[in-house]
Amino acid sequence: MAGFREYKVGTRIFALALGGSMCITLLFPASDMSKVSATDMALEKQLSAGRETGFNLDDPFLQGWNKPLGVELTVDPKTNQPMATAMTVYVYQKGTPFPSGILHPRVLGAGVQELSVEQGHIVDAKKDAGAVFAISKGVYNGQQVSYIDNLTATKGWTPDDVMHVAKDSDISEAGKGKTMFVREGCWWCHTLLPEQTQDWQVFGAPPMLGDFNGESPTAFGSDRKAPDLLHVGSRNSSREWMMMHFFNPRLVQPHSIMPRYDYLWGDKDASGQAIDFAKWRAEYDEYREGKRVNPPEVPSYASNSEIRGLIDFMLSLK
Ligand code: HEC
Repeated sequence: MAGFREYKVGTRIFALALGGSMCITLLFPASDMSKVSATDMALEKQLSAGRETGFNLDDPFLQGWNKPLGVELTVDPKTNQPMATAMTVYVYQKGTPFPSGILHPRVLGAGVQELSVEQGHIVDAKKDAGAVFAISKGVYNGQQVSYIDNLTATKGWTPDDVMHVAKDSDISEAGKGKTMFVREGCWWCHTLLPEQTQDWQVFGAPPMLGDFNGESPTAFGSDRKAPDLLHVGSRNSSREWMMMHFFNPRLVQPHSIMPRYDYLWGDKDASGQAIDFAKWRAEYDEYREGKRVNPPEVPSYASNSEIRGLIDFMLSLK
């Protein structure tokens, strides 16, 4: 019985340690996160990806429906005059769901929330009418802070105004592409999370607190078998390279274990011609066997294809 009493003391100490550590795990980050202000990276990610990228009722089959468009504006959409400096805006056409920062400004964190509501008028944005957002700079408590600006309220720019002056090459479908990234399981091999190790010398800086406010899902990945992609657009910004590598990674990396994603091209190429995958494959086999000098040309993709979104997303990861 004496031994059993000691056992009870040990149990209490153990319960206290476990309970205490669970309290810290559950309560501490929860109270701290609401004070963390969203960084520019978090604002860009929210605005470019929209409300949700994983499974959700707006896009149950992960087709990239209902996603915002990034537009590099060089012309003022109201006056049609060239602008002094190009600016990036995010167009939410009628019915596109808003990201969580717009729906629940509290997730933007101290300073960003106040400026986005008071100067950016984000609470006036209406999903049924659509809206155009940008990241603007303001001052909060003497500090420079980035906030979300609802340009539809502050400048009167509607989604139609902006789409009217935007050329296809000014438009980024990174939001749709992030859905492709999630759906295709790129995260089985790639992470979006350089670690606080020598990693950053190769893959760029690890993310900071505040870089993920309102992002869902984060697509960190868990088990890395391939390069980290959080900053891939900074080290590799060639659309042509991306096209070849996604059509068949072996075109540029002979021993790559990465699967080919040629089916993301869809049935038709940029000029509306049907893509003959069987012919391509036969010619590629001849190239592999040394029967021809060059591999067959990779078809150009249609501007509404899934691969376009995926490449836009890769190039947006700066
Ligand atoms: C089976 C594992 C695997 C999967 C799945 C996979 N990749 Fe890769 N990926 C690799 C490997 C290995 C490399 C490095 C060798 C190479 O370039 O092919 C790579 C390289 C890349 C690169 C070039 C990275 C750099 O540092 O320049 C990009 C971009 C990329 N992958 C994107 C994707 C995307 C997007 C998907 C999903 C559509 C995907 N990968 C799916 C294994 C994978």
